[in-house]
Amino acid sequence: MKHLLITSLLVVYVATHSWVEQVTQIYMGRIIGNPGYPRGNVPRNSYTFLTQHDATMTHLLPPNGRPDGEIWDTDLMCMPSQERFNETAGSPILNTTAGSTILLRYQENGHITLPNTPPGKPSSGNVSVYWTRYSRPTDTLKAIHNIWTQDGKGGDQKGSLLAKLPFDDGTCYQVNDSPESYRRQRLPQPQHDAYEGTNLWCGNTVEIPKGVRPGIHSLYWVWDWPSYEHGVQKPEIYTTCIDIEVTE
Ligand SMILES: *[C@@H]1O[C@H](CO)[C@@H](O)[C@H](O)[C@H]1NC(C)=O
Ligand SMILES: *[C@@H]1O[C@H](CO)[C@@H](O)[C@H](O)[C@H]1NC(C)=O
Ligand SMILES: *[C@@H]1O[C@H](CO)[C@@H](O)[C@H](O)[C@H]1NC(C)=O
Repeated sequence: MKHLLITSLLVVYVATHSWVEQVTQIYMGRIIGNPGYPRGNVPRNSYTFLTQHDATMTHLLPPNGRPDGEIWDTDLMCMPSQERFNETAGSPILNTTAGSTILLRYQENGHITLPNTPPGKPSSGNVSVYWTRYSRPTDTLKAIHNIWTQDGKGGDQKGSLLAKLPFDDGTCYQVNDSPESYRRQRLPQPQHDAYEGTNLWCGNTVEIPKGVRPGIHSLYWVWDWPSYEHGVQKPEIYTTCIDIEVTE
């Protein structure tokens, strides 16, 4: 029985990774308005998702099978379906205003509640959220990640770092039999949205800078989740690219 359980957790693990599934506006600590979705969104209940799964929404760097296991200067920030504005049917972009607070939400997929699956992961890592008014399909990870700064003066100065936060927001979980999932299930709960079901999604809160001009702006969500093997750190990064519209 125990063996069966472990096997099923592993199956869940290999089948799932994390990406930003929704962005919403926050006001006085509460979610308000309609959610917006990332570029090239493939909803979980769509035929494409049911047949092609996470590959439709995850952008792993370095990609599987790369011989040197390193990130290259040419690696693009966004996956092909997210390189440019791509609002898919039923997945509108978020409308917001300058100076507003927004929440980027994703599922932990066991990366928090099953900390030893897979091994070699000392933590669930960190998320960096970048903001730009000048998104280009040729934007590379290396020219932006850990280069763009909060004051906007890093790198090519086409964007800035909005926040660097832990992947683990301290309360999110998926329901499984791990002690950490049980512990979080028993904490005081916010109301779960219907699409969350019994799970509680994770979120990163960021502020859209005050005074930005109306128009389409882009967010790059970069999740650093390195592995350690024999004391050597190996990069494992996932990104989601998201457009939002700033209105007057
Ligand atoms: C837009 O996104 C959809 C879904 O991910 C994808 O099938 C399509 O190729 C994308 N379009 C472009 C121009 O990238
Ligand atoms: C944002 O505004 C546009 C145009 O007014 C609209 O098409 C879109 O559905 C809105 N998005 C949301 C999430 O309400
Ligand atoms: C995450 O950020 C913390 C605080 O800046 C840092 O100590 C830690 O090394 C980072 N971990 C990763 C995996 O980037």
